Amino acid sequence: MQRLEVLGANKLKGQINISGSKNASLPILAATLLSKNKITLKNLPKIKDIETMITLLESLGSKIKKKRDKIIIDNTNQKKTFASYNLVKTMRGSILVLGPLLAKFKKAKVSSPGGCVIGVRPIDIHLKSLSKLGVKYKIDQGYVIATAPKGLIGTKIRFPKISVGATENLIIAACFAKGTTTLKNCAIEPEILDLVNFLNKAGCNVKWTSKRTVKIIGVASIKNINYQIMFDRIEAGTYMVAAALTEGSLKITNIKPDIIQTEIKILRKIGAKIKISKNDIKVTGRKKIKGLNIKTAPYPGLATDMQAQIMVLLCKANNKSTIKENIFENRFLHVAELNRMGAQISTKGNMAYIPGNIKFAPAELMATDLRASVSLVLAALTAKGKSVINRIYHLDRGYENIEKKLKKVGAKIRRVN
Ligand code: UD1
Repeated sequence: MQRLEVLGANKLKGQINISGSKNASLPILAATLLSKNKITLKNLPKIKDIETMITLLESLGSKIKKKRDKIIIDNTNQKKTFASYNLVKTMRGSILVLGPLLAKFKKAKVSSPGGCVIGVRPIDIHLKSLSKLGVKYKIDQGYVIATAPKGLIGTKIRFPKISVGATENLIIAACFAKGTTTLKNCAIEPEILDLVNFLNKAGCNVKWTSKRTVKIIGVASIKNINYQIMFDRIEAGTYMVAAALTEGSLKITNIKPDIIQTEIKILRKIGAKIKISKNDIKVTGRKKIKGLNIKTAPYPGLATDMQAQIMVLLCKANNKSTIKENIFENRFLHVAELNRMGAQISTKGNMAYIPGNIKFAPAELMATDLRASVSLVLAALTAKGKSVINRIYHLDRGYENIEKKLKKVGAKIRRVN
């Protein structure tokens, strides 16, 4: 099994180019299933989760050609509607094929993704909302077996809770529903706006009518298009933290600063200096880091996917901080590992209490989930001496070339088999 060795502590300096967004690529790849022809996608990140989604699409009959900076998906003979447990179990985002398969074929058998280390993560909102569009389903041996005997029929749905995945699944499905679908209390993460842009460019009719309400008028088919996926705002946020944390200075390029206003605001409050340009920002860390009381929330609030990284930064603050995790019930797995490096964080329910003034000590560490893993890399960058991070396959699910990108800006980091 591969591991990362990090020799801290170095100030990071230079430029990091941000890859395409994982969480925009996954729903857009799923949405390509609506097509009976060809779709070209650019700027997909080169990470494991995207490979998994591509394998899943291939298992459903899509023919996929990879060229240097793009992939071409040919669905001329895409006819299968069965997504197996083996593929779905490794990535929760796979459930996003359910909506488009039902929209296109009126039936689908998709493995239920089950829980994961950061919480139970049910799919009840996806299923109940699809049933309002006319889908009948049952769960049999871990599989969702769903049909839409009369096809999907547009209606008004109010999500009981804001869910990124359920909003995406329903928007995609409703594109082929008869008549008009109105979805209320939608998630409005930038990745969902990217999905909507993609769908509209492909000839769908999806309009935001108020902040969390979207109106979708069904169409019969989608067009062949070329689409460029947005940048990964969580990757950008992670490297912003790396600059602030190491008292370094990083220019983070290929982004849209407007989309990461919350992260910019938080980093400025913590004490980092940030210079904003059109498609990049420069983050310079200062010696003094201020503690904060923050909470995660659906966009435009602080992303739960940034919680672990910001926690590492707050460990170095001159005073106390708290973090309230409002999205997932078990997303403090990184705390135990950070404490092994000396962080002294305590948790109670969804609250984490961070005393601050911590000098991380190097350690041998275990990655537990994607964002927890990257928080360990960040902590290791500031710990004087050698840290080893095991089980980095979690990291490879979501960060393209992390050790290359970090090495280029001065980190001493290497992958060991
Ligand atoms: C997506 C992101 C993930 C991010 C999360 C929250 C992708 C591929 N993944 O995950 O990186 O951390 O949004 O921003 O884009 N819930 C239910 N029932 C449901 C669906 C969700 O109770 O049917 C709950 C979840 O358990 C969780 C909350 O709703 O507590 C939000 O989850 P959701 O927004 O759906 O997250 P994902 O789409 O799985």
